Amino acid sequence: MSLLPIIEVPDPLLRASSAPVERVDDELQRLIADMFETMYEAPGIGLAAVQVAVPRRLVIIDLQDPDPVPEGEEEGPPVKRPHVFINPEIVSNSDARKSYNEGCLSIPEQYAEIERPDTVRARWLDADGKQREGEFDGLMSVCLQHEVDHLNGVLFIDYLSRLKRDMIVKKVVKSRKDKAKAAIL
Ligand code: NI
Repeated sequence: MSLLPIIEVPDPLLRASSAPVERVDDELQRLIADMFETMYEAPGIGLAAVQVAVPRRLVIIDLQDPDPVPEGEEEGPPVKRPHVFINPEIVSNSDARKSYNEGCLSIPEQYAEIERPDTVRARWLDADGKQREGEFDGLMSVCLQHEVDHLNGVLFIDYLSRLKRDMIVKKVVKSRKDKAKAAIL
């Protein structure tokens, strides 16, 4: 396994529409393993293949929630529950909407409250290439919608005003430049 570089705004590849995955083969399994390693290291809870410069319709998610504990007891350590979504499609969503504070590994250190449908129904292929369908709510729903957006070249900042969006991209570019300069000195 190996860590993959994560591309950041304003990389134009983030605006590309990803192509469907045609074969669930060993090469794809290697990419999935590398993406999980990259996401856990980042750390993040979701990653689309296009973010590691592979514009294919592949998303991984792991909320890394601790196991539920009885009331009053202390929360345990995060538990890994990897989810793979190949060619995911959101087939329906609720009228009810909810807002979450979102971030993105391709827009480092920037966050914004984004409103999205509360629950979604999705169809996808799992890591074995089997057709699956399911309904999601809470953070899983937010995360899946955010990642499917990536496959269509859409970023969470697109839900903000143009002014806010431009400001966020400028901040990311400046902070990257500052970091690069600091490394030279
Ligand atoms: Ni993202």
